[in-house]
Amino acid sequence: MPVLPPLPDGLDCACLPRAHDVPAQAQLEPWLATRLGTVALARDARGRPRLAEGDADVNWSHSGDLLLVALARGGQVGVDVERERPRARAVALARRFFAPAEADWLQALPAAAREVAFVRLWCAKEALLKAHGHGLSFGLHKAVFGERDGVLHLLECDALLGAPEAWFLREWAPAPGYRAALAWRRRA
Ligand SMILES: CC(C)(COP(=O)(O)OP(=O)(O)OC[C@H]1O[C@@H](n2cnc3c(N)ncnc32)[C@H](O)[C@@H]1OP(=O)(O)O)[C@@H](O)C(=O)NCCC(=O)NCCS
Repeated sequence: MPVLPPLPDGLDCACLPRAHDVPAQAQLEPWLATRLGTVALARDARGRPRLAEGDADVNWSHSGDLLLVALARGGQVGVDVERERPRARAVALARRFFAPAEADWLQALPAAAREVAFVRLWCAKEALLKAHGHGLSFGLHKAVFGERDGVLHLLECDALLGAPEAWFLREWAPAPGYRAALAWRRRA
């Protein structure tokens, strides 16, 4: 998987070294300012950052030493980055929080592939739910992904998330030992 896959027009994404002693928002404001000019960020009732002006959307995620940010001119964007680590309970967690078909897929994989697949699924789901805005509390099982040609696709989702085919998804390895996903839906 490429370090930063090509993205459609209207999307900008960067994976930056994370400064652990600086809040992510403060670290990202200069990055946003070079793209938007002025940056005024506010948090909605769920804690999601929103740009106070214009129709751009921003989202970011931090894990370990990485800070992943995406900016979408129009539409909704969400990102997630996670560190790969052993997940002995991947199938049990998937049975509890994912859709049954996803847990079945993980269970059928060899153990090493299963741990990576679990993280990939997690990133895809979290990126989508962060784009939507409710975050994880919406329900990880409400967006169902399946692998085709080595890439995760959104197969079905709750009606509140809209049509699955309206969502654009990219998943990649931004650095050794990390997985990331970006979900984006154009403004209808
Ligand atoms: C918020 C949440 C997405 C964080 O997940 P995480 O894996 O720990 O963190 P990530 O690094 O991927 O993302 C963190 C960033 O997501 C953003 N974020 C926060 N709430 C968000 C939401 N509802 N939707 C999208 N993005 C959100 C913030 O920018 C945050 O960065 P910050 O630490 O600088 O504030 C997750 O805990 C969640 O979905 N919680 C449920 C939301 C909720 O019910 N909040 C209750 C508040 S009343």
